[in-house]
Amino acid sequence: MRNRSAKTVHISFRQLVDIPSTTHGVFGLYRYPAKFIPHVIAYVLKHYGKPHMSVFDPFAGYGTVGTVARLYNLDYEMWDLNPILEVLHRVTLLKVPKIDPSAVVSEMRRSKEEYCPDWSNVAYWFHEQVLPVLKRAWGYYHSLQEEVERLLLTIPLLKVSRLFSYDDPGRMKLSKSPRSIARVEGILRRGVEREFYGHLSNEIDSLVRRLRQYSDMSPRPVRSVVKAGIDTLTETLTETRDLLVTSPPYMQSQEYIRYAKMDLFWLGHPEEEIRRLAKLEIPYRTVPRVRINSPTFHILREKIDEEKMLRVYDNYFHAIVGFFDRIQKQIGYRMFIFVGRASMRGRPVPIDEIVAEHLVANGWRHEETLVDKISARRMFRYGKNPATQIEDARTPSERLVVLSK
Ligand SMILES: C[S@@+](CC[C@H](N)C(=O)[O-])C[C@H]1O[C@@H](n2cnc3c(N)ncnc32)[C@H](O)[C@@H]1O
Repeated sequence: MRNRSAKTVHISFRQLVDIPSTTHGVFGLYRYPAKFIPHVIAYVLKHYGKPHMSVFDPFAGYGTVGTVARLYNLDYEMWDLNPILEVLHRVTLLKVPKIDPSAVVSEMRRSKEEYCPDWSNVAYWFHEQVLPVLKRAWGYYHSLQEEVERLLLTIPLLKVSRLFSYDDPGRMKLSKSPRSIARVEGILRRGVEREFYGHLSNEIDSLVRRLRQYSDMSPRPVRSVVKAGIDTLTETLTETRDLLVTSPPYMQSQEYIRYAKMDLFWLGHPEEEIRRLAKLEIPYRTVPRVRINSPTFHILREKIDEEKMLRVYDNYFHAIVGFFDRIQKQIGYRMFIFVGRASMRGRPVPIDEIVAEHLVANGWRHEETLVDKISARRMFRYGKNPATQIEDARTPSERLVVLSK
């Protein structure tokens, strides 16, 4: 059953917002899975935000909402289960440094410090000739006293370490593939150390260039709160926020912590913490049941006859709906919820309609749903659906549900 009172409008966020490209400046620094393109948030803040309003993203991922909020002079609050949000966001806010990459690299090569991640599987992911080079580079990193110096190296080191691992970066969790094995073999033939530091130096250059591009967009010094490594389903919002802009996790796979874990290990997070966080990811956790006021949700639910699928379906919607029920009183004006269109066993699941129906029953007005034909974030390449092992039929079409009080 559709929510027919609201209109569906086809638009192109890229054409409506004046940001040169989706990966301009700090927006292209790091490949966070399912990352917003800045245009989506810029569109929202340009049309509905006023300076000094505040915006809240409870599933902030890479932190694009905060980085864009500064361009429009809005305060912001961001939360995510993934602890990497905090360090990544700090990097994007660095002042443009005066730095000579070759001097940094030479100092790093002279360092005798070593760092070994607390990761039982580390030898599986790195060739024995690669691992010692990485341990020394990260040893230098962890020995740095100045936070700014460490932040400057964070993303270059994360990127090059992944490039030198057996991970295939296109997949949604760590996975070795013939392609990634061939990549490492090439590195071994050409010489690990020289190639490692060559890439690192280029990445430092690229970071400085991107920080400069962002700085040229005149970000403002606004007030911000960032909570990383927390569970959105139990965390408390202490201040009322004017706008909520978010994209909740994807329905059918537990992907973010598993994807990020290599980076988290190098940054110093212990295995035990990563295991604990992975268990809190939506939708593979049991959550308290709430009343879901969406006819579409119940009609579709009747058609699912497999127990496992039903569990994922229920956990997903009870988590998301339960969260909005709990938080909605503290959102002053509008909510913008960005969702993909999922499918289960080939049957479409219109997440946008289910969420909108429920929130309309709660008293919100569904103003419109904006649909961008071109996928507005970088999704994982699924081959088979991880939950069903069926060839994936999910379309990249994504929708921004606009709700007002
Ligand atoms: C679609 S992504 C958001 C991406 C973000 N819009 C960006 O631009 O990078 C969904 C996020 O939900 C987070 N997440 C999943 N379960 C969570 C939980 N229980 N608490 C907080 N965040 C959670 C994931 O870590 C992921 O970053």
